Amino acid sequence: MTSPLPIVRTPAELRAAVRAWQSAGKRVAFVPTMGALHAGHLALVTLGLAHADVAVASIFVNPKQFGPNEDLDRYPRDEAGDAIKLASVGCSLIYAPDVATMYPPGFASFVRVSGLPDLLCGRVRPGHFDGVATVVAKLLSAAGADVAVFGEKDWQQLAIIRRMAADLDIGTEIHGCAIVRDVDGLALSSRNAYLSADERARALALPQALQATRAAILGGMPVAAALAAGERTIKAAGFVRLDYLDLVDGETLHSLGRPAAGARLMGAGVIGTTRLIDNIAL
Ligand code: PAF
Repeated sequence: MTSPLPIVRTPAELRAAVRAWQSAGKRVAFVPTMGALHAGHLALVTLGLAHADVAVASIFVNPKQFGPNEDLDRYPRDEAGDAIKLASVGCSLIYAPDVATMYPPGFASFVRVSGLPDLLCGRVRPGHFDGVATVVAKLLSAAGADVAVFGEKDWQQLAIIRRMAADLDIGTEIHGCAIVRDVDGLALSSRNAYLSADERARALALPQALQATRAAILGGMPVAAALAAGERTIKAAGFVRLDYLDLVDGETLHSLGRPAAGARLMGAGVIGTTRLIDNIAL
């Protein structure tokens, strides 16, 4: 099937395309993804186009951010379907390199942000954020775009990418895009495709616990007690593991004992065999 969008597969082709637009006076937005796109990803492209004239999306399932027992092999892949979706929201180009192009024999560099990756998801996914920082540094350097957009569902990832882009003088503005949710409140995620109907129904306990915890804290309940009640809700729904439910500073991600400006409620757990994350502003 012919793709509705041009697809380039090497950093040189990506850079040449972005530079051509920039030479013509256009601002370029870049949206890194791992494919299996849903409305949340398409919102990233739409936000990119609010800050730029042209949008480019990358599709690359990055092996370096998956742990040995994670879902790299079963991660959903649908390049043809993704191209149709990206074209429908005005994306102009796809960058879809293969693993050998991104990590050729002899590849030996890693980007590691210190501090932030050790918290929250980093405690149960060792090395994950090093893989993310490495691939995003490569993608942003190759693209040389004016703007890049990442989803707020991966709040910790966004905080790490902002730190990395500032520290490495990447020169691309980083924008966060609000979480897109299903009508019942579950945050959209490519991994929701793994959920059975029953797990999908029980997964709602995560956003519901975040909302209830927020209401309790704003209603004056001590943070520790509100978090404990939220944890009980999530466990009672049948999550087999609760990695964390915490109130943190939105930038440093350090736990907060009391409400503060910029605070974020963050949760992550496993239902069935699927790990879900979510967060809301306090
Ligand atoms: O959020 C994602 O989809 C990935 O972590 C990213 C940013 C595309 C890097 O592989």
